[in-house]
Amino acid sequence: DGTYNVTLIPGDGIGPEISRSVKEIYDAAKVPIKWEEVSVTPILVDGVSTIPADAIASIKKNTIALKGPLATPIGKGHVSLNLTLRRTFNLYANVRPCRSIEGYKTAYDNVDTVLIRENTEGEYSGIEHEVVDGVVQSIKLITHNASSRVARYAFEYARANKRPHVTAVHKAPIMKMSDGMFLRACRELAPEYPDIKYDEDLLDRVCLRVVQNPAPYSDRVMVMPNLYGDILSDMCAGLIGGLGLTPSGNIGKDASIFEAVHGSAPDIEGKNLANPTALLLSSLMMLRHMKLTQKADLIEKAVLSTIAEGTRTRDLGGKASTQQFTDEILKKL
Ligand code: IPM
Ligand code: MN
Repeated sequence: DGTYNVTLIPGDGIGPEISRSVKEIYDAAKVPIKWEEVSVTPILVDGVSTIPADAIASIKKNTIALKGPLATPIGKGHVSLNLTLRRTFNLYANVRPCRSIEGYKTAYDNVDTVLIRENTEGEYSGIEHEVVDGVVQSIKLITHNASSRVARYAFEYARANKRPHVTAVHKAPIMKMSDGMFLRACRELAPEYPDIKYDEDLLDRVCLRVVQNPAPYSDRVMVMPNLYGDILSDMCAGLIGGLGLTPSGNIGKDASIFEAVHGSAPDIEGKNLANPTALLLSSLMMLRHMKLTQKADLIEKAVLSTIAEGTRTRDLGGKASTQQFTDEILKKL
């Protein structure tokens, strides 16, 4: 009947509030989506926290999910459920666009870059052990396969989104073998994309240059191993006003999960203060992924103009509650 079933994981802390905002806005914009809401409150199986089976089944069936923040329980047996989801569904590419919000002034008004982070391995492979007392090893696992598929995704993304330049970000002079392999995987594919300029740059140098002047990065896609992408994406978020404004998409072959990069902010939970923008913008990446481009454009305009006109939540220096901000957007739909 032309409606799509999408799994919604409201998440912890401020998750339910910002998810409610998305649902209200989607209703008003008549987006043809039926939300299938599931909880991923961790359950312990054999002493290890894991995701309830019905949540997994829902994502498997719908292949698209929107996810609020999940708190990472600290302690033995608890792994981050964010990571568990990425691993369970083999969401190999984490796409993190970072674009200045027109009308929200920061020291930078010309940020427009896209980070693509390898999302399944590297330092996140979770292989650690204490060799002898006082000596631990954490394995940074890099495979040619995972490097190559995320590199492929980056080149394809660049082409599809008219970004003529792909930069592989690395520390190969230090991580000679692992980052060396990552770079080799990128280099091998570059000749298949003669329309795209390919180069390589060091992570530390990129950090320095981006904060000095982000403009040269505005035609670019930067692709990198997992941990580098985690760190660099927060740094870039800082340029445009913080994690309340940056979306992300975890892309896999069989499923994709779109999520805000920020945490569950338990300090403001239930207080009607949270900024739903990051989750909203993530949901718009989802709509574009689903080819519901017109709805995405419509909602994006309403969200951005609301911020530009000065209705802002506290994190952006404003006074609006989550609901007041949402209502302002609703008026424009
Ligand atoms: C992110 C987050 C996660 C990560 C945490 C919550 C596990 O910081 O999505 O960037 O480290 O990848
Ligand atoms: Mn992070």
